[in-house]
Amino acid sequence: LDNGFDACGAGQYQDIEELLVGHFGLRRTAYVHSFGCQQNEADAQKLAGLCVKMGFELGPEIDSANLIILNTCAVRESAQNRALGWIGSLKGQKQRNPNTIIAVFGCMSQLSDIAERLRSSYPYVDIIAGAGLMHLLPVLLQKRLREGKTVVDVTKQASITESVIEHNKNPYKAWLPIMKGCDNFCSYCIVPYVRGRESSREKQLVLKDAARYLSGGCKEITLLGQNVNSYGKGLKDGGDFPGLLGELDAMDGDWWLRFMTSHPKDFGKRLVDTIAGSRHICRHIHLPVQSGSDRVLKAMNRGYTTREYLKLIDYARSRIDGVSFSSDVMVGFPGESRKDFEKTLALVSKVGFNAVYMFIYSPRAKTAACKLDDPVTKQEKSAWFRELVSLQQSISEEQNRALVGRRLKVLVEGKSKKREGLVGRTQGDIIVEFCAESDEDLTGQFTDVQIEHAGNASVSGRRIARANT
Ligand code: SAH
Ligand code: SF4
Ligand code: F3S
Repeated sequence: LDNGFDACGAGQYQDIEELLVGHFGLRRTAYVHSFGCQQNEADAQKLAGLCVKMGFELGPEIDSANLIILNTCAVRESAQNRALGWIGSLKGQKQRNPNTIIAVFGCMSQLSDIAERLRSSYPYVDIIAGAGLMHLLPVLLQKRLREGKTVVDVTKQASITESVIEHNKNPYKAWLPIMKGCDNFCSYCIVPYVRGRESSREKQLVLKDAARYLSGGCKEITLLGQNVNSYGKGLKDGGDFPGLLGELDAMDGDWWLRFMTSHPKDFGKRLVDTIAGSRHICRHIHLPVQSGSDRVLKAMNRGYTTREYLKLIDYARSRIDGVSFSSDVMVGFPGESRKDFEKTLALVSKVGFNAVYMFIYSPRAKTAACKLDDPVTKQEKSAWFRELVSLQQSISEEQNRALVGRRLKVLVEGKSKKREGLVGRTQGDIIVEFCAESDEDLTGQFTDVQIEHAGNASVSGRRIARANT
């Protein structure tokens, strides 16, 4: 094992390799699964990187894995239940193979009541560690193997993940975290409580990661943060988000740059102008609006009005050729009335997003909103939700129909799961299913596709080879 572990504290122990061989044998496999957002996915890649460094093979099969790592999410109760369900289903495996080590990381285990519940009701879980503690995996594993009992670490210490190199099984597509935490405290949201305060990574470190990805053949980099638009706050080099984008955009090659998530209150004109003048930034903006009612937005503590939001959309459309938008929308915030909900429908129709991620409000302990009166029934909220889903489906389908007959550049993601052929995405984040004449593996390459059909979730067509890429 190399010095990379010194940074995470395991370097002081000489016997980790011996412990691992003693427990798992020479051949050991790990299975890593992530729930929740892309930030969690990026963290899971770091956990996988540490597994590889510790001599584990990464396997697609949970049943035969010696080490199982679940990186959990707590944003809605459903996410929490899904993770708890997975953990529950591992009981049998642990009984059959008592040497299996089960580790639960991430936002859900960061919640002290859940950590306690895991410890008391799921005693076969070996390691319980909070969000941002990925770098501690070797140390926690070592402790567990030495002491033979459950190890819990949910302290909110600063994340020291800089020294950990991720393992990415699709290296053509990289997640690049530029900050951690969130300071916004939207009244419904648990993230600031589990991920801590916002802090930005130094610009040089971000640029170095991007250069490393691109020299390894990466074709798409997505910058990650809960509110990327406030990048730079507190940094000594005085950098900000448009400045960072400008420097990244100067990097040569045929590649796409994306970022998420943007917060409308911090999305300024300079950022729009930076996108408009860029070579690599995709002409697609994910801009969560949450609600179309100003009264609800205020109660959510979002910090903008629908008028400001729509003005921003208009400005972006006037400056960026062919720009498209996607959004997050929540239904059934405490106190939301039918009238408020209708304003959301109206806003969604007015903007014409190409995709909307829709959620029914889920009360989260600790947040301000969970103390508010919530008179609307679950059934009613579900009916509103279905109404919104069907509105957005028809909007997506209409937008997709407008692509029929066009030739679009697509980054190929691999074989289609739904039909014969391949699947990829456009810079506007539209899923494209297509057939190619040969069996050549085009994964991770750009190609052109002539669009022939449109549905509400994807479009499909036929590959046309690109002249030079
Ligand atoms: N930082 C990002 C995303 C945060 S979580 C942002 O500000 O947009 C992703 C989405 O989950 C949010 O946009 C919101 O729509 C939804 N969400 C967050 N908390 C929720 C809750 N308590 N109930 C339902 N949906 C929630
Ligand atoms: Fe949650 Fe709001 Fe922060 Fe997004 S900006 S993570 S919704 S508190
Ligand atoms: Fe979930 Fe944590 Fe992301 S709560 S949405 S995994 S920041």
